[in-house]
Amino acid sequence: MKSLDLSPQALKKLLDDSTAIVLNHFANIHEQKGFHDFPQQEVESWFQEALPQDGMRAEALFDLFVEKVLKTATGNVGPHMYAYVMAGGNQIGIVADKLAATINQNVTKWHLGPAMTEIDKRVIQWAAEMVGFGEDVGGYIGSSGSTANLDGLTVARNVYFEKHDIRNKGLFGSKPFIVYCSEETHSSVDKSVQLLGIGLDHLRKIPTNADFTIDLDALEKQIIADRENGLQPFCLVGNAGTVNTGAIDDLNSLADIAKKHQLWFHVDGAYGGLVSALDSKQALYRGLDRADSVALDFHKWLYQPFEVGCLLVKSWDDLRTSYFKKAAYLDTSLEQGNNRLDLNEHHFMLSRNAKALKVWMSIKYYGIRLIKEMIQKDIDLTDYLNERINASSDFRLIADSPLAVSCFQYVGGLSNSEDIIALNRQLIPALEKDGRVFITGTTLKGEFVLRACLINHRKTEETTDYLLDVIRDVAERQMSK
Ligand SMILES: Cc1ncc(COP(=O)(O)O)c(C=O)c1O
Repeated sequence: MKSLDLSPQALKKLLDDSTAIVLNHFANIHEQKGFHDFPQQEVESWFQEALPQDGMRAEALFDLFVEKVLKTATGNVGPHMYAYVMAGGNQIGIVADKLAATINQNVTKWHLGPAMTEIDKRVIQWAAEMVGFGEDVGGYIGSSGSTANLDGLTVARNVYFEKHDIRNKGLFGSKPFIVYCSEETHSSVDKSVQLLGIGLDHLRKIPTNADFTIDLDALEKQIIADRENGLQPFCLVGNAGTVNTGAIDDLNSLADIAKKHQLWFHVDGAYGGLVSALDSKQALYRGLDRADSVALDFHKWLYQPFEVGCLLVKSWDDLRTSYFKKAAYLDTSLEQGNNRLDLNEHHFMLSRNAKALKVWMSIKYYGIRLIKEMIQKDIDLTDYLNERINASSDFRLIADSPLAVSCFQYVGGLSNSEDIIALNRQLIPALEKDGRVFITGTTLKGEFVLRACLINHRKTEETTDYLLDVIRDVAERQMSK
């Protein structure tokens, strides 16, 4: 009878050939360009074809992959990526993803993936230990920081309003719930508030101080005003590292405010949460352990290949209260063993892959000491970048960071702020076209800046110097046009 399987020899060749591609990619990784400037229509044309009725040879398929996908890939693995929060992955993670696909567990009910479920639980415990979240912890390993924020706010809403029987009655008839966060909070919180039916009109974006942390006085005044106006303040979102500048809110004061006003306290630690494991930075995270929920992101500062994020909550019951729904074909009553954890009863997702395996294997292989060293190196390199900027005559630092993101402008010989901003705006497409490095911009208190995030263990002082050299080169060409 036919199946899709290959002969052992053909499978071995497939694996060997793909291994050769991986090895070749890493042999040249330090030269990987940041971006390849192919027109969109051209990239689209490479893949325009009718639905293939018959298969093609693996060799030709690999050639196609190498030519059209690998060689044109945005340089996220190499050291010249500075945009967004792109951590470059790690090699154990690559192998782990392959092994996870090999056994293809559906980590949703304990008996569908016994070892993988226990690995999920273990990784959640370790993550909680890293950020000092305490021993009693539940959690969910999902796909990203965005989903971890959505999960956190979903649990917040469902647990907080359980008394209103919200899972049966919905939001109808309730006074509007109010969520608080700083104006620097990640857009995934806005999206979550939209998805949860709370509505953006009920998300209060509180102004920030000069260091981009939330203004605590303005926050409390807003909570009091909302309550006086008959609204229901319910959730406070703190930042453990904003995406723009890595600002870490005063989490301990936020925990006090949350306690005083009886709010759920969620912390977005997608970017910076794991840095609390570093001795050098621990003091900045005081109060993180007092959060009700924390969003983390392992494809950021745990150097995992995409995608893997994580929500931590204080107990598995918080998740079960939020998500449990009985379904006849998922019933566990006939199964043996009463300590089995069925993850589908603790989240919306039913089928899910083994996202925790790569995290577990990476931590076991490298050890957390080495991973922490790499995080510290990223932060030290950012300090180095800032020193170079400050020592130069043609760049100016706009905002440094307790973490690894630097916001600056190329000023050249210009003195007028509008001209400087216009030039820096033009630099983004010009740098993308150039492609040697990949960097994007952002807006800080209304001002456009270049933003470099250094979160890749393959970076060095030389690659950091190269960033400024390339920007300078592209800017000078831009100005001479
Ligand atoms: C602070 C913060 N929160 C949430 C996110 C969203 O994470 P993801 O891109 O994994 O969805 C990011 C991404 O950069 C972030 O920096």
